[in-house]
Amino acid sequence: MKIGILTSGGDCPGINATIRGVCKSALNHYGMEVYGIHNGFRGLMDGHVNRLTEDSTSGLLTLGGTILGTSREKPFKKTSTNINNERPSMIIKTIQSYGLDCLVCIGGNGTQKTAAKLMEVGINVITIPKTIDNDVWGTDISFGFDSAVSIAADAIDRLHSTASSHQRVMVIEVMGHKAGWLALYSGMAGGGDIILMPEIPFNIHSIGDTIINRLKKGKPYSIVVVAEGINTPEGKKAAQYIAEEIEYETGFETRETVLGYIQRGGSPTAFDRNLATLMGGHAVELISNKQYGRMVALQGNKISSIPLSETAGKLRLVTENHELVVQGRRMGICFG
Ligand code: F6P
Repeated sequence: MKIGILTSGGDCPGINATIRGVCKSALNHYGMEVYGIHNGFRGLMDGHVNRLTEDSTSGLLTLGGTILGTSREKPFKKTSTNINNERPSMIIKTIQSYGLDCLVCIGGNGTQKTAAKLMEVGINVITIPKTIDNDVWGTDISFGFDSAVSIAADAIDRLHSTASSHQRVMVIEVMGHKAGWLALYSGMAGGGDIILMPEIPFNIHSIGDTIINRLKKGKPYSIVVVAEGINTPEGKKAAQYIAEEIEYETGFETRETVLGYIQRGGSPTAFDRNLATLMGGHAVELISNKQYGRMVALQGNKISSIPLSETAGKLRLVTENHELVVQGRRMGICFG
């Protein structure tokens, strides 16, 4: 069998480990041929494809980013400039010219949607959930998330000393798109006093009360972890808005840090390396059984898969009754 592999959407640690897992099991165990498709779905349109061999996988386990490159190309999205959208037929032509039996698409929510549409036009696909946001519905964890949490938690650790030295409130903005998973997990791991997420509305007065109560308990400083996707007035960045509001509400000197793309860089954690390896191998197993149209998933502590139709178009969001939120509240952490 011949499989194509592509990476689409935001990069993150662990993508290359996934490519390695797919390639090494496909080549060694199943005797398949593997073709790398460059820059996400755009590579299928451009025909930017090359054969991957055992040599292609050396050094990938620990390497950040993606050796295939990525893009946010949405081939089925109609725009005013391409009413007669030729891109799907270009994709089909490339797949036929290489004789690919199946595509392995590594990506987040946008990728799941595009993959489901490719199935509808007769292209076999298997997807592997990839995102630091951890917002892909149907899998308990996406690879990339643990690495981003570790990076953000380390950054939060470093803010405690400067906050206490200057008796300041330090606000750190983490990524996560429309979900609060990164803020929740890194905030709890980093000892945040206040953790704000898009899923839980916040009130600046309760945030101010938390800060003042800490002062009364002899802690004239606080750490505030903010998800980039919280609701702010038009155009205001999350950390900037919250820092301004806190300074006005409490009179505390407040400074903000936006962690940004550092959360997407560098080598994956050991957890993400193993999750990526297992998911890559499971994708090839599904292909060997001709079980197409499925997304690989971690459910409980088992690697399994779900129909693409079940996940495409859905978001996995934090809930008020999530165990970390419940436990955090019991410990006096303010979630807004
Ligand atoms: O989806 C991953 C992510 O890093 C989000 O957390 C963030 O909002 C977005 O990508 C940034 O997109 P881009 O890389 O296109 O700037």
